[in-house]
Amino acid sequence: MSFHYKNGYLYCEDLRIKDIQQQVPSSPFYLYSLAQLEANYAAYSHALEGMDAFVGYAIKANNNLTLLKRLREMGSGAVLVSGNELQIALAAGFDARQTIFNGNGKTLDELRLAVEHNVLINVDSEFDLAHIQQAAAQLDKLADVLIRINPDVDAEVHPYVSTGIKNSKFGIRNERLDWFLAEIRNDARLNLVGVHCHLGSTIKKVRVFRDATERMVEFIRAIHAEGFRLRYLNLGGGLGIDYERTGEDIPTPRALVDSINDLLPEDITLIIEPGRSIIGDTAVFVNSVTGVKTNGSKHFIVTDGSMAELIRPSLYDAYQHIQFIEPVIGKVETYDIVGPVCESADFLGKARELPTPDEGVGLVVCDAGAYCHAMSSNYNLKMQPPEYLVDGDKLTCIRRAETLEDYLRVFDIP
Ligand code: LLP
Repeated sequence: MSFHYKNGYLYCEDLRIKDIQQQVPSSPFYLYSLAQLEANYAAYSHALEGMDAFVGYAIKANNNLTLLKRLREMGSGAVLVSGNELQIALAAGFDARQTIFNGNGKTLDELRLAVEHNVLINVDSEFDLAHIQQAAAQLDKLADVLIRINPDVDAEVHPYVSTGIKNSKFGIRNERLDWFLAEIRNDARLNLVGVHCHLGSTIKKVRVFRDATERMVEFIRAIHAEGFRLRYLNLGGGLGIDYERTGEDIPTPRALVDSINDLLPEDITLIIEPGRSIIGDTAVFVNSVTGVKTNGSKHFIVTDGSMAELIRPSLYDAYQHIQFIEPVIGKVETYDIVGPVCESADFLGKARELPTPDEGVGLVVCDAGAYCHAMSSNYNLKMQPPEYLVDGDKLTCIRRAETLEDYLRVFDIP
């Protein structure tokens, strides 16, 4: 319970969020709990204890350098989707042998960087394989590759975050597997070390992972029958978290691992690539209420945070829980919580029963650690918000607020 109420005030570990809000120079901001991050990582490392396996944390979910260093210290590997993510992973000190480069549009420059640093690389398509071959040839270096396979298992999630079905833009066409194997066999610089899949995100049923594992094990057998010797089965990420807070049973990392353990072949290292389930519930997005208004039959709480800093509700119609950080005693109404950005898609939450707050009251969007700051933008010239980390009773700024000056620097054209 890293975030909890005491006497009507929301705390992050030992610190009252209202005190933090009054103490820091700007609003809105992101606030993280180190204890929660440690607990989430430990849930994976305990579940995998004694197994030949490692966790590759998906950096795309949250790329804060301090948090990456913490995860690396806990023993995590990293999953990358761009050359810049590779650079930040190196800056955070991740071991390249526990680093996997995914993506359906990796550029030659990015691939050269990956080959240079001995990162495991996923083969996503015919052209992607050709680019990996070029990168390895240009550097005259061996590249370790995994083939990204579409197990064609429906993750039963929002279509924008479903990635493992036949018509997805990711992975190879399975019927072309033999062609890929032949190409790899004929290139002395390519070393086929594994297979990869990623079914989607916000998955709430472990059966989905079991179905995919069964398919992937069949592929491993077929590839072994062709004379290759695979080392890795990478099952991707995707475990959901309890955004809705309805008391629904969300599978734990242990449940996920237990559901697939008996299927895993001997001598294979399992890789899991969680993002959301490691970082999602470690943070809240802290806002201040700018005002309250009513138009027609609708009531609105207007906050200083917006879709620019947290776009998931606008983009996916995603639900993230919203609550006040202090006692509020006004009349209870059904509110849309909206930001100041000039379009009606700008909302943080819809139809929430909340007491009417005064101006300046603190309000948080919960479970804001994954795909929130990482997806923020400068729309309406909103600046990237700062991030703070709580460790017990200690508060540290782990990303300063972006300033207009920072932003204007991109127009300094020599
Ligand atoms: N591995 C691969 C290959 C991925 O594409 C992803 C996420 C992950 C691992 C991590 O998945 P996770 O454990 O975080 O579910 N922006 C969306 C989520 C997009 C996820 C994309 N891929 C959202 O805000 O819900």
